[in-house]
Order: sequence, then structure tokens, then C-alpha cells
Amino acid sequence: MIILGIETSCDETAVSLVEAKENKLKTFSNIISSQVKLHAKWGGVVPNLAAREHLKNIIPVLKTAFKKAGVKPSNIDLIAVTQGPGLIPALLIGTNAAKTLSYVWKKPLIGIHHIEGHIYANFIHVNSKFKIQNLKFPILCLVVSGGHTQLVLMKKHLDYEIIGQTLDDAVGEAFDKVARILGLGYPGGPIISKLATRNSQLKKKNNFQICLPRPMIDSKDFNFSFSGLKTAVLYKVKKLKKLPVTDYELLVAGIAAEFQQAAIDVLIHKTIKAAQKYNPKTIMLAGGVSANQELRKQLSEFIEKNFPSTRRMLPATSYSTDNAAMIAAAGYYRWKNMSAEQRKKALRNWKTLQADANLELA
Ligand code: KG4
Ligand code: ZN
Repeated sequence: MIILGIETSCDETAVSLVEAKENKLKTFSNIISSQVKLHAKWGGVVPNLAAREHLKNIIPVLKTAFKKAGVKPSNIDLIAVTQGPGLIPALLIGTNAAKTLSYVWKKPLIGIHHIEGHIYANFIHVNSKFKIQNLKFPILCLVVSGGHTQLVLMKKHLDYEIIGQTLDDAVGEAFDKVARILGLGYPGGPIISKLATRNSQLKKKNNFQICLPRPMIDSKDFNFSFSGLKTAVLYKVKKLKKLPVTDYELLVAGIAAEFQQAAIDVLIHKTIKAAQKYNPKTIMLAGGVSANQELRKQLSEFIEKNFPSTRRMLPATSYSTDNAAMIAAAGYYRWKNMSAEQRKKALRNWKTLQADANLELA
């Protein structure tokens, strides 16, 4: 079957056409129109500006996605759209586009939780040797994005138990805020990770003693907190600025590296602790921060060392940050799980589907 995925929860207008054949998900097209430049000058995403851009871009992005895929509207079997959580003005553009297409083309429509999409990005086929048929539950999934930081236990497909989550900022949000403090622009994740790599190449020359806290690393639960870490960076920068620093660039790279490591230490520590309690057969990573190479590397090494028989799954970096292929992928798994009656009902979802900023992962 062919699934049309639509995602507009934040600042990417994304449309994808995905083919599902015997559980193998292959993207025919995965078009993303990013608004990063527009929002950069505000230091973060402005919801109404995002909606205006989505409105401008949704039709051209849809057209490009169909053209690139070589697929006609009549060929598609299902429309999957991000229903929430996200920015309401932004979500409304995607859900209304999807509802209109569902009505006009008479295709079933399913609303998808954005985080479920991130999780199912792991199931898109990217020439890996891994066979989805060999997937083993329970899965412990570390979700790390701009809006979420959660440890999710999946005993079967589409079944989620949140065993821990951030009590304040999400880890991606912390990357973005720290980048703003350091004057590095938006989004923060990619630039901080680049600077951290540069710092490790320059390590011998960096004499700044930068030490940041690892918040809640020893707490007994599986929750996180990143707001204090961001504030610690703010105080550190204020203090260091008073010193006669000659190489500011080196200082910033040092802070970026230590911040990134502090965040990674907490994420990995909590994941390992949760794995010790829940004995998952698979440990998975999901969300925009999963594009971070150091997190991928260190988490993989830790799993290999501590849980050699546990399978690990990381999304392809091309599907780590927001995209619509992941929404189509989740749509496929939802569709597979639906009864004939539910599938019939999905043809009328254009009437009832509502964008929901606080949709729960259930
Ligand atoms: O999942 P995503 O694309 O959007 C949300 O659902 O929030 O995640 C975006 C977040 C941003 O905070 C961004 O700074 C972060 O992911 N991010 C990264 C990297 N690439 C994106 N964080 C750390 N390292 C990266 N390479
Ligand atoms: Zn996301």
C-alpha cells in the first residue's frame, strides 16, 4: 500500500509518500521545507509565523512529493497526518490539508501522535541488514526531541507506557537555549554538537576548567531535568565573561562540549537504569536529538557493553528530525492494527479529526 504522510507540527512543512510492502517501508519521496532561517532571528519558533509559512508551502510541497515519487493521488491508500502535540496554528494547516484531501480523494485518514511518528522512524527501511520481522519486544525507547524527553516502554506495537520524562525542559530545548546563551543561533543542537567535536580535536589547548552538573542523574526514578543545566551554563558564561578571556571561541567550544556531555551522561545513565529494571529486548532512540552523533555513539557503546544481547535501533539520521515519512510509517502500523469497521470509519475522519496541541501518547 502507499501512504501519504503530512507533518506540520512545528517549523517544517513536510510531505512524504511511503510504500509498505510486507512490513518493509520504503520512502518514494520525503520533502521537507524548513523555516529555520525565518525563525532564527527570533531565537525560536513563532507559532503564527510558522502557520503562515505552512500555508504558503503546503501545496508546493505536496506537488513536489507526488512528482518526485511518480505517484498519482489515485494510487494512494491512506493519508496519515500529525494530529498533535505541537503548535496549534501550525498543526491546523496540516490537519486541514489532510482532511480536504481525504474528502476530495475519498481516502481514509488517520491522525498520528508526533512522538509515535518519531518512534516509527526506526521502522523505515534504509538498506540496513536489520529485518523488522526479527524485532523483539519489549522495546525501551529513549525519546529526545525539542518538546519531549521520555523513556517509553513498548510491550507490543502501538502500546506505550511512559516510565519517565522531563520535569521541565526537553533536552532539545536545552540545546536550543544554551545555543542562544552562547550566541550561536537557532536551532542549537547541530551547532553545539559541531563545536563539541571541534573542542575534542583541540582538547589539549583548552585550559578552561568547565564543569557542569548532571541533574537528577542519581534520582531513583527515570525522570529528567534540563532546566538547571541550562541555568548552570548561563551562570558559567556570566562568570567567565568577567575574566580576561583571550580566546572566546575556545571557551564557547569548551562549554558546548561539556554541556553536550552532561546531557548525554544523564540520558544514557537513566536509559541503562531503566533497562536494568525492565529487561527490554530492544533499546531504541527517537526524536530530533537522535541526530546527535555523540549520543548515538556513546549510547550504542553502552548498550553493547552492558547489554550485549539487547538489540539496539537508531533511526537513520535523515529521519531523526521532523519529517513526514515517519508519520506515514506510524500510519501504516496503525492501519495494520485496525478492524474492517475502523478502516471504514477512517473514510469519514475528514469530518471529525481535530488538531490537538496536548495529544497524549496512548
Ligand atoms: O524532533 P525534532 O525535529 O522536533 C521536535 O519534535 O521538537 O527535534 C528538534 C530538536 C531541536 O531542539 C534541535 O536543536 C535538536 O532536535 N537537534 C539536535 C541535533 N539536531 C537537532 N540536538 C543535538 N544534536 C543534534 N545534532
Ligand atoms: Zn519532532
